[in-house]
Amino acid sequence: MSKPESEGQSPESARGELSPQDRFDRMVAADSRIEPRDWMPDGYRKTLIRQIAQHAHSEIIGMQPEGNWITRAPSLRRKAILLAKVQDEAGHGLYLYAATETLGVDRSELTENLINGRQKYSSIFNYPTLTFADVGVIGWLVDGAAICNQVPLCRTSYGPYARAMIRICKEESFHQRQGYELLMTMMSGTQAQRDLVQESVNRWWWPALMMFGPPDAESSNTEQSMAWRIKRDTNDELRQKFVNMSMPQAEKLGVTFPDPELRWNAERGQYDFGQPDWAEFWRVVGGDGPCNRQRIAHRRKAHEDGAWVREAASAHAAKARAAATVGEVAS
Ligand SMILES: [Fe+2]
Ligand SMILES: [Fe+2]
Repeated sequence: MSKPESEGQSPESARGELSPQDRFDRMVAADSRIEPRDWMPDGYRKTLIRQIAQHAHSEIIGMQPEGNWITRAPSLRRKAILLAKVQDEAGHGLYLYAATETLGVDRSELTENLINGRQKYSSIFNYPTLTFADVGVIGWLVDGAAICNQVPLCRTSYGPYARAMIRICKEESFHQRQGYELLMTMMSGTQAQRDLVQESVNRWWWPALMMFGPPDAESSNTEQSMAWRIKRDTNDELRQKFVNMSMPQAEKLGVTFPDPELRWNAERGQYDFGQPDWAEFWRVVGGDGPCNRQRIAHRRKAHEDGAWVREAASAHAAKARAAATVGEVAS
């Protein structure tokens, strides 16, 4: 049973002078947002930098698998949709890099960490896009899994991250719908088109389930992140939610998932399902997936090719600053 407020307080806190740690703990417990200027424990800051940077990198690297199909989209309409979607992902990366910068790191440092392999991105983007059906399946399942992961992050304890996620989630649900709409169109086409969709679903289903991370028993960061309210649900809870959400959509679409254990469990009121190949997951996370090297090489080349743009932009900004200073002196 808890004591009345006045009892058990130190003289400092009775005068309203909480220690920074106490103030932080209270804010987190009250579901208030921690802002960049607030005191925060080192571990909290480090965890957020790692998580938000990894999220930003995933948005940027995630442009590659779908970007691969922009020049080969089957119609002008599909090309315009795909271009807009890939561009949205660039925007998500930028919001998230900006959110990470509020924690005291520099974006150029984060980019270096990505291309040197010191920071990770979601393992899903190390799988290749072999057919145009993959564009639809990525929208439906990969953006769908991202939404399951990200909607709870709109209530995460760090203010700039939570606010970025609200905007990102709105666009992600658009992405998911465009993917589903593309698949609906293909499924109402020829048998060859329907086969393409099913073949693509077979390849993406397990990697999509891996997007929620390892099982709770093996997830080293979950407990602390939940206590800090950075994370609001466990990996296994989110995975279950995703399966529950995806099954009726698959039935409506007319495709199946490649899991013989997948069936409705009336007692639990949820779907039972099999486990992904976790050895494959760790292999891909460790850098040995089908496209890891290609993705990083491509990102590194884009970064190097963009050096002149960054130099020109800095020179322009310096000039504008100098002109403003001259203006101030003159007036
Ligand atoms: Fe995104
Ligand atoms: Fe997306």
